[in-house]
Amino acid sequence: MSARKERVLSGIQPTMDSFHIGNWFGALTQWVSLQQTHDCFYCVVDLHALTVNHDPTKIKARTLASFAQLLAIGIDTSKSTVFVQSHLAEHSQLAWVLSCITGYGEASRMTQFKDKSQKEGADRSTVGLFTYPILQAADILLYQPTKVPVGDDQRQHLELTRDLAQRFNSTYGETFTIPDTMTVVGNSRVLDLQDPTSKMSKSSPVGAVFLMDTNEQIVKKIKSAVTDSDRAVSFDPATKPGIANLIGLLAAATDTQIEATADQVTGKGYGEFKQQVADALVARIEPVRNATESLLKDPAHLQEQIKTGAEKAREVASQTVATAYSRLGLLTEPS
Ligand code: TRP
Repeated sequence: MSARKERVLSGIQPTMDSFHIGNWFGALTQWVSLQQTHDCFYCVVDLHALTVNHDPTKIKARTLASFAQLLAIGIDTSKSTVFVQSHLAEHSQLAWVLSCITGYGEASRMTQFKDKSQKEGADRSTVGLFTYPILQAADILLYQPTKVPVGDDQRQHLELTRDLAQRFNSTYGETFTIPDTMTVVGNSRVLDLQDPTSKMSKSSPVGAVFLMDTNEQIVKKIKSAVTDSDRAVSFDPATKPGIANLIGLLAAATDTQIEATADQVTGKGYGEFKQQVADALVARIEPVRNATESLLKDPAHLQEQIKTGAEKAREVASQTVATAYSRLGLLTEPS
């Protein structure tokens, strides 16, 4: 008899029209490969996107685009449960329960909140931004996963999630699986093409390559990537971060180890090398862009998968909420 696969859950915000290669090579390729070994739940966390100023005319299209891109990169809905967070009231229900066992001081210590609220200014930061990590804890605990693949910046949120799960279990009785953090492996840290000292981010459109960029845009962005005043390629992240980042991208795009890729390109001139990186990225991204476009052109089919995902997710999430409510001693609705 084969053992049951361990469960994994992760989430991504639909805050852009397109994911970028930092999201893809940094995290989403791991989501794809985990499908071979784990029972995966992947969530497009649209409610989290409401915590900062969002554009109501865009979020719907971005949620659809995010869902389609997940499928286009190889998330397979016959293997994994892929769903949209706001389709399940359970996320909000459990978030409330967890907020009632979270200390105000404990939530105040979340560094991501401190950073973001400092940027927004205290008056413009919302309570939603403050309780963001509690909603994230609910996203996770609803599905009883043993592992949560996330970037390093999410470690503290995962610690909070574990603390809340333990606290609930010890106060009200075993209800939640305590999840472990699974940090992203591989060619994970993709840097900004214009500023190779910071992480690639959507807020730097010229420094990021998006999965929906045209081939021309991809080539142009790689060719104008910031490097250094040397002539020949060598791999040295400390003194040559721009070149090292491009070597990392080439490795990721060709599914090769970074050392082997570095050996292969060492000594090349920058122009030739950049062309090679651009070609490799185009070859990898073009099919994903095409697949996304055809998914978006067939809304009925996409809607069907979104619906099935929500139904599969609800089977698990509704059970967890029912158990949590009953452990809390809430009166059940008479049937
Ligand atoms: N906060 C996560 C991020 O910014 C996104 C997220 C929301 C998430 N809910 C989650 C990640 C649940 C993992 C599990 O990357």
